[in-house]
Amino acid sequence: MLAVLDSTALLELAAERTGTPPEEPVVGPVRVGVDLGTATTVLVVLDRDGRPVWVDSHPSGALRDGVVVDFAGAVASVGGLRQRAEQVLGVQLLDAATAFPPQIPIADARACRFVCEAAGFGEVALVDEVSAAQRTLDVLDGVVVDVGGGSTGVGVFRDGGLVALDDRPGGGHHLDLVLAGALGVPVDVAERYKREHSREALPVVVPVLQRIAESVRLMTPDAADLPLHLAGGALMLPGAGDVVAAWLGRPVVTHPHALLITPLGIARSAP
Ligand SMILES: Nc1ncnc2c1ncn2[C@@H]1O[C@H](COP(=O)(O)OP(=O)(O)OP(=O)(O)O)[C@@H](O)[C@H]1O
Ligand SMILES: [Mg+2]
Repeated sequence: MLAVLDSTALLELAAERTGTPPEEPVVGPVRVGVDLGTATTVLVVLDRDGRPVWVDSHPSGALRDGVVVDFAGAVASVGGLRQRAEQVLGVQLLDAATAFPPQIPIADARACRFVCEAAGFGEVALVDEVSAAQRTLDVLDGVVVDVGGGSTGVGVFRDGGLVALDDRPGGGHHLDLVLAGALGVPVDVAERYKREHSREALPVVVPVLQRIAESVRLMTPDAADLPLHLAGGALMLPGAGDVVAAWLGRPVVTHPHALLITPLGIARSAP
């Protein structure tokens, strides 16, 4: 049944299931993905057929650039998301997968797993974020770019295999910082402004977007021939993808609900 769902249909279904469980009972065994992000922690539950049945999120703050800076806070956040999912779906969530940004030290990557274990998950699989995003998009030959709250990760895929992986600072939070400076407002106000007044916000943050695009170029020197897929929440700002495409002088592929691409792929990597 799942075979007929392409990545766009999967993302649409995941968006529909955000905070809204399906009407019919969930058919297990379920698979669970936990995305410990800089901006948000997202939990995704898939049914036996790999269909998203529940998506929930919690503002993060416990992580910075993939590094857990507030262990107890991260555990509480994941534990809360887990409990709510179990209540809503009426199934137990036993195991999970979680992800780390490429290029962080292995000890920091492991901390992501420890957070999930401390939040009550048994077996916890660990994948890198960009490979997770690729699992959702099913890109065989292409560059997958994940621009999140704090950093930009890139993975180069050829014949379905990962041939290069990198990550640099630069994401939605940096757009907020520049916007806050330009408007003379606190960062949280700038974050709201960016979403509610995206047309006015875009020109102010163009240089930051160009900088993100430039770091994508520097991280992918041998991949100019490949299509570039954009994932992550930061480029959901309308027009942001066009700025990246213009700076790089190549077309980019955008996807709906881009901030769900990585969390969904993490769940698809779960045991
Ligand atoms: N509709 C939107 N318009 C503009 N920006 C958005 C929108 N939705 C989310 N964002 C931005 O996306 C960013 C969060 O994206 P995402 O959830 O992919 O990050 P994350 O996974 O928490 O961070 P990271 O991957 O860097 O650890 C935030 O900076 C937020 O402002
Ligand atoms: Mg992320």
